[in-house]
Amino acid sequence: MGLLEDKVRARKFYKYFSKVYDRINPIFYSQKMLEKVVEMAELSDGDIVLEVGCGTGFTTYGISKKVLQENIFAVDLTPEQMKKAIDRLPNVNYLRCDAENLPFKDDTFDASISAGSIEYWPNPKKGISEMARVTKPGGRVVILAPRKPSNPVVRRFAESVMLFPSTQQCISWYDSAGLENIRFVEMGPNRLWSKLVVIISGEVR
Ligand SMILES: C[S@@+](CC[C@H](N)C(=O)[O-])C[C@H]1O[C@@H](n2cnc3c(N)ncnc32)[C@H](O)[C@@H]1O
Repeated sequence: MGLLEDKVRARKFYKYFSKVYDRINPIFYSQKMLEKVVEMAELSDGDIVLEVGCGTGFTTYGISKKVLQENIFAVDLTPEQMKKAIDRLPNVNYLRCDAENLPFKDDTFDASISAGSIEYWPNPKKGISEMARVTKPGGRVVILAPRKPSNPVVRRFAESVMLFPSTQQCISWYDSAGLENIRFVEMGPNRLWSKLVVIISGEVR
């Protein structure tokens, strides 16, 4: 397991990283990637949407282009990250909690989205099944995860820090969570990193 696949360490890391996060994140997460994440959630007007690991609100902002801020529930482990999201989008409903233990009833949301957070969850399978549990039948669960680097040296280093699941691994977690009509796209912020992440979407049965 990578060093940051630990809730206490991930939370401490983001406490400090939040100071520069908004300058670094756009290097790895382009507008097109953000639009694809939101598109794959198939949102409609009036939907109630959960975002897990909202960070400073990049993806939250994309979701707010489709549904009212008041219809978004955004959760994260790190208050320093969420503080920035609150400044950016004050009318979203924020809650500090763990992706693997979501404090919501079954079938609460029309869709659930998590971009760039699963790599810190010690039990990603549990996190995905939690997102599926709180999403209504017919709703979509969308995850963006970093893909395994192809260079073996880079891969070894990267995996010592956090999780880089294969696309196949993500699909098997979606299958285990009972998600259907699974679709995925591999993409990146530029030509050099054209398959940096996988964005995967599945429908709750
Ligand atoms: C890369 S950042 C946020 C990405 C954000 N979704 C965006 O669009 O920029 C990852 C976030 O996941 C949060 N996180 C890590 N582990 C978590 C967990 N177990 N439960 C909830 N949030 C978690 C971190 O606090 C951090 O803010």
